[in-house]
Amino acid sequence: LGLLRRVDSYFGEYLSQKSKTRESYPDISFSRSNSSCSIATDEGLFEQPEPLGASKSVMEKIHQRRSLQLRDQQRAWQESPEGRKMLEFRRSLPAYKEKNTLLTAVSQNQVIIVSGETGCGKTTQIPQFILESEMESVHGAVCSIICTQPRRISAMSVSERVASERGEKLGESVGYKVRLEGMKGRDTHLLFCTTGILLRRLLIDRNLKGVTHVIVDEIHERGMNEDFLLIVLKDLLPRRPELRLILMSATLDAELFSSYFGGAQIIPIPGFTYPVRTHFLENILEMTGYKLTPYNQIDDYGQEKMWKMSKQAPRKRKSQIASVVEDALRAADFKEYRPQTRESLSCWNPECIGFNLIEYLLCYICENEKPGAVLVFMTGWDDISSLKDKLQAHPLLGDPNQVLLLACHGSMASSEQRLIFDEPEDGVRKIVLATNIAETSITINDVVFVLDCGKAKETSYDALNNTPCLLPSWISKVSAQQRRGRAGRVQPGECYHLYPRCVYNAFAEYQLPEILRTPLQSLCLQIKSLKLGSISEFLSRALQSPELLAVRNAIDYLKIIGALDENEGLTVLGRYLTMLPVEPKLGKMLILGAIFNCLDPVLTIVSGLSVRDPFLTPFDKKDLAEAAKYQFSRDYSDHLALVRAYEGWIDAERDLAGYEYCWRNFLSVQSIKVIDSLRKEFFSLLKDTGLVDGNTTSYNAWSHDEHLVRAVICYGLYPGICSVVHNEKSFSLKSMEDGQVFLYSNSVNARESKIPYPWLVFNEKIKVNSVFLRDSTAVSDSVLLLFGGTISRGETDGHLKMLGGFLEFFMNPTLADMYQNLRRELDELIQKK
Ligand code: CDP
Ligand code: MG
Repeated sequence: LGLLRRVDSYFGEYLSQKSKTRESYPDISFSRSNSSCSIATDEGLFEQPEPLGASKSVMEKIHQRRSLQLRDQQRAWQESPEGRKMLEFRRSLPAYKEKNTLLTAVSQNQVIIVSGETGCGKTTQIPQFILESEMESVHGAVCSIICTQPRRISAMSVSERVASERGEKLGESVGYKVRLEGMKGRDTHLLFCTTGILLRRLLIDRNLKGVTHVIVDEIHERGMNEDFLLIVLKDLLPRRPELRLILMSATLDAELFSSYFGGAQIIPIPGFTYPVRTHFLENILEMTGYKLTPYNQIDDYGQEKMWKMSKQAPRKRKSQIASVVEDALRAADFKEYRPQTRESLSCWNPECIGFNLIEYLLCYICENEKPGAVLVFMTGWDDISSLKDKLQAHPLLGDPNQVLLLACHGSMASSEQRLIFDEPEDGVRKIVLATNIAETSITINDVVFVLDCGKAKETSYDALNNTPCLLPSWISKVSAQQRRGRAGRVQPGECYHLYPRCVYNAFAEYQLPEILRTPLQSLCLQIKSLKLGSISEFLSRALQSPELLAVRNAIDYLKIIGALDENEGLTVLGRYLTMLPVEPKLGKMLILGAIFNCLDPVLTIVSGLSVRDPFLTPFDKKDLAEAAKYQFSRDYSDHLALVRAYEGWIDAERDLAGYEYCWRNFLSVQSIKVIDSLRKEFFSLLKDTGLVDGNTTSYNAWSHDEHLVRAVICYGLYPGICSVVHNEKSFSLKSMEDGQVFLYSNSVNARESKIPYPWLVFNEKIKVNSVFLRDSTAVSDSVLLLFGGTISRGETDGHLKMLGGFLEFFMNPTLADMYQNLRRELDELIQKK
């Protein structure tokens, strides 16, 4: 333990020296999920360049004059034919009818809550009303309105839309700011940004100086960042009595927010949607010539309601699709399904039936239905890309002259995002495969048909076992209604739910807020870096406070990894971690990778862990895919296999064979490309923090030493560790908290019969029935000893138990020598750096 402490003091000293060289930290925002983290530069949200020597009153005059110019420009635009048409459109939106009510309420109250159906014009109109009314005021008042969005894609697309409604280019009076990207100018008075950007702004500017209105959009989603922001804003309001706060929600659960803000006024916007015809699975099956009937069966547990499928008299299209549907239903194990209870929901597996049924329905719509776009709600990105591949091979659906097939999810490139809003050519049907992002935050104008698979990827968190789970789970009734509503925006529509009505009846009313179902580590770090006091006290003031146990777990974790000290104070390491928009464990890897000059592979690993697994395992080619992944494995590590796969892609890409390479090796091209760009992003971030020399241009010269990288992985993933217990033919895994644990079958280590290392560190454990580990790397005793935990906190209980195995190690003179050597090497490395 003495040795451990010494090593730790090296790290501590190293980091504090580094931090002394920088007085202030760059303004970086991060948020719950890695894909939506954000970074901004130190400048303010609104630019107000002040000419040298200009007095405050002169500046005010300049701003007012500009504001009046903008107003005149706007009036002229509204007189133009295009402008008139746009204004007419805006006036047709339900929100427009409430314009005066809204503006009066904003002027009379500090907080108001607006609720109205998706598409009624909240996001695009309400910020504009405020902007216009401020500009129309006699003196050309200068306002600064911030409107937060939960996702990058909505901040960008909405700002673009609002600018075009005003006949302006983006960056004039309307701008946006998201991680690493933004567009705003000196006249920008309305800024759309991600919630993370605003949170980060609060870090350097606690009072939001100069901001006149804060609009928090999509609060009904109850994202962690939004819930967090509301606590901070609630504290801020008394300090800034002139600041206006407007909360916008797509559903009618506004009461909760109203009472949180002491009975704030609620302004409902009456919505209008065309009727949408709803089809549940039984109705869809009827279209295909099947009838789904419940029947009663006596089993061991008494009477159970079961389902029976029977063929009806063949209908017109039946012969073509009957076998497809039949196969799908068999795969879905249809008879196992017991309706009416919550537990039964897990037996019903739409993934099995989904793809074939979706294909069938899409064909049916294309061949028989009136024009109109189709929106398909899928579970997640992986589903979307495999379905897209499948559909692209279809003679009708894959024909670009007949169908415009698009995907819509949070992590796609901005150029790709814009395609979703474009109208297709005449005679071409637009089909958009989307995640729940299209539920409320993105409005695709011409949707008439909606297909809803009923599930969404949702993180949940089991505080008792301290285990996060990321599983497709059933959506709530409110979500299902939202999805349905998307079909009735322009004309009467149709919605196909790919599950029986009784499954819908068992859905929860609302989804649990994110703060109650995700691990809170990043949030706790954020609270500390914003200097908001005691973590548990702060969180107890949330709209709905997380379980005490969950908070405790997060704080303990942060202490174990050395981000917080005994008194919950932010350590130097913790401060560095708050600058990196990734989970703490990945941040630790980046930091150590930089210190030990092995950043090239570490960047790949960290990027790989922040995106969806690039190794694909298609349902029907599971074995082939797993074998392909195993080819990249040489050293009992999924992480190092990823590094090799990525490097192979770089080589192949040089010969323009990247796509073929991915296809051959069951790799997702999109994931690999995202990894490629994230690597660059993280690299420049490390430069910003000062951990990497700002002049470094290439990271290729760095070490690829496998042992070193293994150590860095261990440093990051600790305390995610389990021991390898060998028996005669194979091995089993034991973890301290969960007892026996298992590897996912696509882990390279799952294909080994023996692992010549005593430990596995893992990235993630997921509870399904048993606890499964995803992505693991085998490590030796010495690596665990040197890099496990923060080293400094060796004394904590759990760690001591973990170290029990090492007592033996210290007794053995040869091993002790080896350890000495290792340590010397480590010292040298640190000294050299
Ligand atoms: O925020 P809310 O869901 O209430 O609606 P919105 O996003 O303000 O959209 C209002 C209307 O503007 C939609 O119904 C669309 O018709 C239109 N819109 C559009 O055409 N293009 C966009 N990028 C966004 C909105
Ligand atoms: Mg909206």
